[in-house]
Amino acid sequence: MATKFRINQLRALSSTVFHGIGDSSYLHLIRAPQNMYHIRHFSDASSPPLSPASYSSAPPQNAELLTAPRPEKINRNASTTSSVNQIELAKFSAISDTWWDSEGPFKPLHALNPSRVSFIRSTLCRHFRRDPCSVRPFEGLKIVDVGCGGGILSEPLARLGATVTGIDIVDKNIKIARVHADLDPVTSTIEYCCTTAENLVEQQKEFDAVIASEVIEHVADPAAFCQSLAALTVPNGATVVSTINRSMRAFATAIVAAEYILHWLPRGTHQWSSLLTPEELVLILQRASISVEEMAGFVYNPLTGQWSLSDDTSVNYIAFGTKISQQTD
Ligand SMILES: C[S@@+](CC[C@H](N)C(=O)[O-])C[C@H]1O[C@@H](n2cnc3c(N)ncnc32)[C@H](O)[C@@H]1O
Repeated sequence: MATKFRINQLRALSSTVFHGIGDSSYLHLIRAPQNMYHIRHFSDASSPPLSPASYSSAPPQNAELLTAPRPEKINRNASTTSSVNQIELAKFSAISDTWWDSEGPFKPLHALNPSRVSFIRSTLCRHFRRDPCSVRPFEGLKIVDVGCGGGILSEPLARLGATVTGIDIVDKNIKIARVHADLDPVTSTIEYCCTTAENLVEQQKEFDAVIASEVIEHVADPAAFCQSLAALTVPNGATVVSTINRSMRAFATAIVAAEYILHWLPRGTHQWSSLLTPEELVLILQRASISVEEMAGFVYNPLTGQWSLSDDTSVNYIAFGTKISQQTD
């Protein structure tokens, strides 16, 4: 019922395509001409395990955040661009040593990784007509991981064969990502750079796929950020964004439970007011010439401690879109 309501909202807000995703099979609702919906089933290669919690947002004016140390070193050119929120940078700088501690503050990202990689693999393979069962289906694809942090997502993308560029505004994150990637010859090919999406746009860089996972809720101007993601995406390329819904359920679980009760995340990791609903994300991506074609939620099973893909986007969700080709005639 809720999903139908969301789909109706999406239809009203923008002419996009919305796909629900189940645990082991995807139910695709593809927008067809004359408002007809064609439904097809898709079996994903695997149903990756996920782990605990999501993210939370923190009450505005959180004292810990306001007194948090400024990032030791950030790219000053990048920091003057529209997506950079200095308070957010200070948070990530303060905990940057812990990126690869799977029981530390980034535990939820480690736990979420198999499911989001599964979604990305499925959607990109379908879009770029690659075999999802091959060992390196992304061979030859240029992917940028915007706000890559310590490289938790960049590394599996490289293992899937992509030529990966990881960028982050916090210099220490990039250094940690570099050191960790160099531990494996396959991931040592990742190019890491301390910069922003806007700076890459200025350099006229383009990628087959642009991914921003759990970043948009930390940027100063989400609409401008999406414009930059779109500008980095080649025509007919792919853009993937994951984030947290601004729902009461997300407030209760991703903020109150994850930050204040379970202490999975430092208090203040997420600002309620900075979260976007799926409808809002679809709209700002649409305005940036990215048409959202698939969306899935991530749900946490407290009994197994794992996350899985779902059509429940009420807390954590991920969207796949394609860049609308500009008519040149
Ligand atoms: C929650 S972490 C997500 C890390 C990574 N995407 C993942 O999911 O594993 C958010 C990251 O975005 C970075 N970030 C925030 N604003 C940014 C911006 N405007 N440009 C680039 N990186 C940014 C932060 O430094 C941090 O590393």
